[in-house]
Amino acid sequence: MLIDSTEEFNDIVSSTQPQATGEDLNLDNTLRPQSFEEYIGQEKVKKNLDFLIRAAKKREESIEHVLLYGPAGLGKTTLANIIAKEMGVNIKTTSGPALERVGDFGSILTNLQDGDILFIDEIHRLNKSIEEILYPAMEDYKLDIIIGKGPSARTIQLDLPKFTLIGATTKLGSLSNPLRNRFGATYRLEFYQNSEMQDIIRRSGKILGVEVHASGLEKIASCARQTPRVANRLLKRVRDFSQIKNHPLIDSAVAQEALEMIDVDPIGLEPADRHILRTIIEKFNGGPVGLGTIAAATSEEIKTIEDVYEPYLLQIGFLTRTSRGRMVTEHAYRHLGIPYTHDK
Ligand SMILES: Nc1ncnc2c1ncn2[C@@H]1O[C@H](COP(=O)(O)OP(=O)(O)OP(=O)(O)O)[C@@H](O)[C@H]1O
Ligand SMILES: [Mg+2]
Repeated sequence: MLIDSTEEFNDIVSSTQPQATGEDLNLDNTLRPQSFEEYIGQEKVKKNLDFLIRAAKKREESIEHVLLYGPAGLGKTTLANIIAKEMGVNIKTTSGPALERVGDFGSILTNLQDGDILFIDEIHRLNKSIEEILYPAMEDYKLDIIIGKGPSARTIQLDLPKFTLIGATTKLGSLSNPLRNRFGATYRLEFYQNSEMQDIIRRSGKILGVEVHASGLEKIASCARQTPRVANRLLKRVRDFSQIKNHPLIDSAVAQEALEMIDVDPIGLEPADRHILRTIIEKFNGGPVGLGTIAAATSEEIKTIEDVYEPYLLQIGFLTRTSRGRMVTEHAYRHLGIPYTHDK
């Protein structure tokens, strides 16, 4: 079988493997580490959390409220679930944008049990009225509810169970100060080292039942944007490719061919990343240029650039943020093979 374009490749994969959709949905869950031992990297955060958990267990108390922040796909949700497992408590998961009505949130809180974990993903997107309920809930385990309307309305206060709030956010800066200050512990997840990425891919390969040679691990790791979720997704793509091509062992050559086919370059940039960099270089002489202008010139959403593309480009030093906007660095010019003409 000859496959010569990305679209064709994707078509073939999804049409010949009807179970892939279900597999796709389950990928995160299948590969999600269940304990600190399985959770690779982030050693400092793990050590601190382990300490926090052991101390709380010894005192037979719930752990203090924990805030996890860092770019998407680095393992915040995974960590929240591991904390619950290690504490041996239930975890109730929700997210900032999903919590709309005060009443619904009140019933979530009153239905928790002592020690339970309430995990709020994207906590920077909570609305103000929910946030205001959260303050006394976090601080004193109290819930104020208003009964009745008009002059006869009165407030009663309910005691809440001693729960632990775990908040996750990709944008610490968007969190209000009063909310941020109510967390007892705040941890920042870092991008992963190359060797950690290789360990993650090796582990995922074992779970998925694919044989990945050391050279294949290296290849996939260097394209995975230092991010486990990307590594897992790339591994799956490479696996699909190796199966179609009848190469059961994934080595560097197989990985490379598969990644080239889906247009991922050797350091993990995709066409959209290169388009953003080239646009800043070609239309704005490398910057500085504002995010809104970049978005308009590339037909991407500001939020997409900010949340999806930019964190890694900043991380690898291809972009810098200045007070006057984003600038492309000399590294990026070199990577794209464009002479660096930017005058400082
Ligand atoms: N430290 C790790 N070791 C091994 N695998 C990991 C690790 N961290 C994350 N993963 C894998 O990456 C996937 C994505 O992680 P997770 O969903 O926890 O990221 P997240 O930080 O919550 O992302 P988002 O900001 O998008 O919610 C997980 O399903 C898991 O398989
Ligand atoms: Mg998450």
